Amino acid sequence: MNRMTRLFVGLTGLLAASALTGCRGTPFADPPIHLNPNMDNVTYIQGQEGNPHFADGRGMRPQVTGTVAHSAQADDNHLQEDGHTYRGKAGGGWATTLPMPLTEEVLDRGEERYNIYCQPCHGQTGLENGGIVPVRAGNWLVPSLHGDRQRSYAVGQLFDIISNGINTMPSYRSQIPTEDRWAIAAYVRTLQLSHATTIETVPADVAKTQQWAK
Ligand code: HEC
Repeated sequence: MNRMTRLFVGLTGLLAASALTGCRGTPFADPPIHLNPNMDNVTYIQGQEGNPHFADGRGMRPQVTGTVAHSAQADDNHLQEDGHTYRGKAGGGWATTLPMPLTEEVLDRGEERYNIYCQPCHGQTGLENGGIVPVRAGNWLVPSLHGDRQRSYAVGQLFDIISNGINTMPSYRSQIPTEDRWAIAAYVRTLQLSHATTIETVPADVAKTQQWAK
């Protein structure tokens, strides 16, 4: 190839490339070509919308007479009749007890789950901005779990905060199963008790095995 031919081939290439890419930033009026539409654009009935297909003209169908919601199993897809277990409420207020027996296994489970789900923000001991997230986020206050207000929460209210979130704290209902949310609530209470206690409350034999001076 001589110089002229090379120049010619080069220029043609450049022209073709610019023609293919077009002028960037030019808005197109037509929608993009949708090669495989699948069921991306379907008409469906919106909530409260009418629909002439049905004799009563209602899009949303009423429940079939005699329909009964079934089962109250401990998973979030079933009817959650038990207000204590699922909403942390009992006797018209926040529940002050767990819906299950408090055992060492429950607290161990709560500790483990707390350290997975809560520790990144609240820190392992629940101090103000105790976790790495508020440190990195800056300007985002994660309150201590040991203030008067936090200590005054009934355990059912702690369960509610974990389930539904509070202000800027997100909800953990979809990530943490019901029983684990209770275990964490119980563990938070344990953290609070151990934070606000003195060495005098530790039984002598335990203090000795731990080599804690009294
Ligand atoms: C993504 C960070 C984040 C995670 C994870 C998180 N929290 Fe929080 N939490 C917050 C923030 C922020 C607040 C303060 C919300 C507000 O009132 O503005 C808060 C508030 C609270 C409060 C109420 C404190 C008060 O001052 O009234 C409790 C109790 C609490 N969290 C417990 C938990 C528990 C238990 C977990 C684990 C299941 C958890 N949090 C997970 C960020 C977090």
